[in-house]
Amino acid sequence: MDTSFPRVRLEKEELFDLIVQNFPVGMIIVNRDEVVLEFNPAAEKMTGFKREDVVGRNCREVLPGVPCKLKDLDKKALVKKDEIFVYIEGTIPHKNGHEIPVRYTAAPLVKGYEPKGAIVTFRDVSKEKQLEQHRRVLISMFAHDLKGPLAIAGGLLIRLREGKAGSLTEKQVEYLDTIIKEIKKVDTYIRSFLDIVRMEAGQIRLSMELCDIRGLVSELLSDLEVRANQKKMTIQMDIPEDLPLVYVDKCQLHRVIFNLLDNAIKYSPPESKIIIACRDVGEAILCTVEDSGTGINEEDLPYIFDPFYRANYSQGVEGTGIGLAVVKTIIEAHGGRVWVRNKKPPEHGAIFSFTIPKAKK
Ligand SMILES: Nc1ncnc2c1ncn2[C@@H]1O[C@H](COP(=O)(O)OP(=O)(O)OP(=O)(O)O)[C@@H](O)[C@H]1O
Ligand SMILES: [Mg+2]
Repeated sequence: MDTSFPRVRLEKEELFDLIVQNFPVGMIIVNRDEVVLEFNPAAEKMTGFKREDVVGRNCREVLPGVPCKLKDLDKKALVKKDEIFVYIEGTIPHKNGHEIPVRYTAAPLVKGYEPKGAIVTFRDVSKEKQLEQHRRVLISMFAHDLKGPLAIAGGLLIRLREGKAGSLTEKQVEYLDTIIKEIKKVDTYIRSFLDIVRMEAGQIRLSMELCDIRGLVSELLSDLEVRANQKKMTIQMDIPEDLPLVYVDKCQLHRVIFNLLDNAIKYSPPESKIIIACRDVGEAILCTVEDSGTGINEEDLPYIFDPFYRANYSQGVEGTGIGLAVVKTIIEAHGGRVWVRNKKPPEHGAIFSFTIPKAKK
């Protein structure tokens, strides 16, 4: 009689228990109805919940925020399994009512093409968050302190330029004009950076009002016309006249669209075309800015919305890498989302998209 089968099974079960018990990060396993099957000791320690508090209960009810329902669990999505792993930052509730910041990794448990459930692991990132916050406060204090001396230096330079300290040679005027221009740029960057920090911390109040995106874009296009003409580029606006209004901070939305169009002009070749389009997609308005430039290299894609990140290929183009960070912070402060993808070959160029929730009637 072959006795190896039950022994192997037992070993596998033992091994499974050992892994679950000793897994160094929190682990939750759910079946396809989102009912919790396993909740390991690391998860118990982190959340204060006992295994018996959660096993047998619906994951989303007992642990809201846990990505236990993996979207697109259909056969089509399962063909490309690597696309349905979820890596996100979020929170998990502690039994005492607090939310603990965690980093999740989740994946469906699939047999053939049939989803059987999901496994979610998570790690406490409270310490990293605290450090990040500390670093942010320090940097923003530093940026804030730079503003004063810069304003004084800028003011004095303007007085010099106006001849208040004696007459100037042509060369001196030329140099002073350049210095004043550069100082203004540094000032704009410091302000944008401080805006990002404040918005991320929820400290900037948005002055919300009803806004007609079509009108806003038309204004912007006439402002940008000279620059586009210099490169013999055309900017096409594809926004229906009856596009519903959005409830936004107009100045901030102006900054968003300006930054996207500014990039499209900067990073596209002369004589190419840019299209800005907006559509009503139900809950939100979706806008896209499409160019025919180089597009964005695969390795740069995860970082281009980070402050001060610039791809290698853009070193010859003026900029500091803050524009897209501003765009992301503003859009997210409005409850929207922003992302980018490249056009499919043989076409080339980038398509930046963002959503803005529609004004409630
Ligand atoms: N439309 C685009 N096509 C190709 N690359 C782009 C495009 N938009 C942005 N990028 C890349 O993303 C980087 C970050 O863009 P971002 O707007 O934040 O900064 P910037 O344009 O370099 O400077 P700033 O906007 O602060 O003047 C750019 O340096 C460039 O490498
Ligand atoms: Mg830019």
